[in-house]
Parts: sequence; structure tokens; C-alpha cells
Amino acid sequence: MRIYKAKDYADMSRKAANVLSAQIIMKPDCVLGLATGSSPIGIYDQLIEWYKKGDLDFSEVTTVNLDEYKGLTKENDQSYYYFMHDHLFSHVNIDVNKTYLPDGMAENADAECERYDKLIQSLGGVDLQLLGMGHNGHIGFNEPGEAFDKGTHCVALQPSTIEANKRFFASADDVPKFAYTMGIKTIMQAKKILIVVSGADKAETVKKAFFGPITPEVPASILQLHNNVVLVADEAALSKVDL
Ligand code: F6R
Repeated sequence: MRIYKAKDYADMSRKAANVLSAQIIMKPDCVLGLATGSSPIGIYDQLIEWYKKGDLDFSEVTTVNLDEYKGLTKENDQSYYYFMHDHLFSHVNIDVNKTYLPDGMAENADAECERYDKLIQSLGGVDLQLLGMGHNGHIGFNEPGEAFDKGTHCVALQPSTIEANKRFFASADDVPKFAYTMGIKTIMQAKKILIVVSGADKAETVKKAFFGPITPEVPASILQLHNNVVLVADEAALSKVDL
């Protein structure tokens, strides 16, 4: 694993955007695995800036997102579909027909998971998967204890996640109870992985995930077994490890 120490969130975002940008330049028709949440927003902003300067071309890029809430329409501003259009797709020259997320409104959950895994396979797999990491070490919606051998699946959100997310909805009842996520197996099949982590509140988890034992209790720890991982973390997130 290659580790880049960034000064702060802005520096982390620029360094990580450089990795994504190098991927797009080296392989213009690459398949990017993308993430939502607060960690990648600075990266997307940077990529948009470089696109506007004429330094990046997304016209041949395909994207597959890690996860999506079950039961939210594309128009719902809390859906990851909405997030991706809002933070990236509508600002660059990507062909939206080549941007994929699990369909939150699919009627049959099992069929949707199977469709998503087959789609990723039919694209030839993910060239570069971008990941953030939760405070408990989750990646995608793969929470502690989840088996390492799963493909895309539907997960019941933990009560703590519903509680944490209810501020974005009219009430706790409106928070989705389930979500689709690429499984650890799907994530590990990506050719390259870029994981970004920022903030002192994740420092202990960074230590456990990348310098501790590999265990389903810390889902991101499995990344130690992948042969092409880049971790870009800021000083605060790396404050509990000696580099
Ligand atoms: C997002 C995702 C999540 C987040 C993680 C960190 O698509 O799958 O695993 O990456 O929860 O979230 P932030 O970046 O908001 O701290």
C-alpha cells in the first residue's frame, strides 16, 4: 500500500484528484468506481476545475458507484444518484448513459444486485475504485462483521446509521431502512483502489484498518491484501501512526 500524507482536506483532495486524473489521462475509456459522502466532495470539485481549464476529458469515461439507498427515487435529493449529478456529472462532459448506480427503486432486490454485478463484469471490471471510510472502518455500506466474500447485496441499515442520517430527512421514518452496496468481494476485484481519509476523528480507525490485524470487524482492513492500493490521508487522520 502506498500512503500519501496530505496537510489537510484541501491537500488530500488535490492529491487524490491527481491519482484519478492520471487514470483518466492514461486510459480515457477507463471504468471509475465512485463514492459519495463528504470525503470525495473536494476531489470532485478539483476534477471539475481541471475539466473547465481543459485539462481533463470525461467523454469516454464510465462510472459505477459503490452504493445507493433502497426506496429513494433519482429526484430525491438524498439519493446518491442525485448527489453524483449534483457534485460531478452535471459539471463535466461525461456521457450520463455511461454512469451507473444501483437502482434504488428496483422492485426485486436480489435481481438488482445480480444485475449490478453482471454490469460491472460486462464493463471489464473497475480500473480505479475511489473509497471513503466510515468511523467504524466501513467501506461502501459494508459494516463491521460483514463477510468478506460478498458481491453486491442489500443491507439493513444499522439503527445508529438511521439515527445519524435522520437530520437530512423530514423524520426518522423517512430515512431509508435498506441500501444496496458493492460487497467487499466486488471492491477487492477493482484493479486499483484509492481510499481517502480526513480528520482526527478517524485517526484511531486508520491505525486499526491499515496497521492492525485484518478482520471483518474493521472492513477496510481487507485492503491490506489488495496489491494496488493508494491511501491519501491528511495529517490529522494519520496522527496515530508513525510514518
Ligand atoms: C459512500 C460510502 C461510505 C462513505 C463513508 C465515509 O458512497 O460508501 O462508505 O465513504 O461513510 O463517509 P464520509 O466521507 O461522509 O465521512
